[in-house]
Amino acid sequence: MTIDLTTKFSGLSSGLRSNIQMINPFIVGSGPPTTNRATIAKAFREGWGGAVAKTISLDHEKVKNVSPRYGKLYSREHHDVVGFENIELISDRPLSLWLDDFRQLKREFPDRVLIASIMEEHAEERWRELVQKCEAAGVDGFELNLSCPHGLPERKMGAAMGQDPQLVHEVTAWVRKATPKPIWAKLTPNVGDITMPALSALKAGAEGLSMINTILSVIGVDLTTLRPLPTVGGLSTFGGYSSIAVKPISLRMLVQVMRAMQEHGFADRSISGIGGVTCARDAIEYLLLGASTVQACTGPMLQGFAMIHELTSGLAKFMEQHGFQSIDAFRGHSIQYLTRFSHLLGEEGETNHAQPGLASDDQWSGDKINSQTGSMSSN
Ligand SMILES: Cc1cc2nc3c(=O)[nH]c(=O)nc-3n(C[C@H](O)[C@H](O)[C@H](O)COP(=O)(O)O)c2cc1C
Repeated sequence: MTIDLTTKFSGLSSGLRSNIQMINPFIVGSGPPTTNRATIAKAFREGWGGAVAKTISLDHEKVKNVSPRYGKLYSREHHDVVGFENIELISDRPLSLWLDDFRQLKREFPDRVLIASIMEEHAEERWRELVQKCEAAGVDGFELNLSCPHGLPERKMGAAMGQDPQLVHEVTAWVRKATPKPIWAKLTPNVGDITMPALSALKAGAEGLSMINTILSVIGVDLTTLRPLPTVGGLSTFGGYSSIAVKPISLRMLVQVMRAMQEHGFADRSISGIGGVTCARDAIEYLLLGASTVQACTGPMLQGFAMIHELTSGLAKFMEQHGFQSIDAFRGHSIQYLTRFSHLLGEEGETNHAQPGLASDDQWSGDKINSQTGSMSSN
């Protein structure tokens, strides 16, 4: 059986502006793994299908990073990183250097998708200038960073825009006017109902959505100094949470937005799934729940770019096992099985035990609570 890992860069149907073919659906997400030409080139050489560059703005001089700016949450038994927090800002590199990087990367890697991630203040001319400069440097499309949860919102940027559906519409429409290239709006999960900013972006002309950015968090407290982490000069601030722990939240939001897209006539738009992709299994879950492409940021930070080899081989193996020749053959397949809780009950509304468990809450015992918890867990 021939297995085809290619996927359309943006848009599931041919009516949309770009039908660039990607060699695989795997994109390095905006952040340290795409922070300059050297890191992006390394990713492309290893085999990633695309990269969203680290977010840029017109004026890099306002960007002042601190260190330490990362924090890790470990699982108790295995010392694996399950959660990761950062208080990193957008790129501190001048735009002129970035434009050179874009030109050179497109020359060197013409078959890879290069997306500029952009962020600006609430001023149409600033967004237009940034878009047009990047477009002239040859990028394939744009990701609008409407979602960075720390630092930038204090300047009314990032999540401060993404949390307001009207602003999402306004800014997306500005960019839509400025370029014919595909636009993905990158959404913040730090909202009550993610379908609202999602629909605003689509109504304003975004081809796609990238979701999610990080979740506002406090990664922990140092029990010696009693200071929250990461501590900079004795103080800390809320940061953005990523890695494996955020995947279930992102998968839930993906399905909510996929359904809203169906309902509101945007079924031909695409979603780039992001959050906690560390191996092929994670990525396949995103595809099964409707994502067209999958991004990973903390994954390559912790494992290196070579993780792409397991992503592609794991995906090919999964497709072979199920007899899927293309990604479209199973994209979104698992959404149909997510339903209301009441549908999990029997026809008469009676309880439904798909695997043996406790018949009633009377049976919980103080001595066996951990094994009893196991008996009713799916994994
Ligand atoms: C250190 C760090 C820096 C990041 N910087 C950016 C950024 O500049 N722009 C952006 O859109 N997202 C940024 N992100 C968010 C990631 O692109 C991604 O949305 C998020 O981390 C969840 O995916 P992951 O679990 O694969 O990391 C950053 C994430 C990390 C960990």
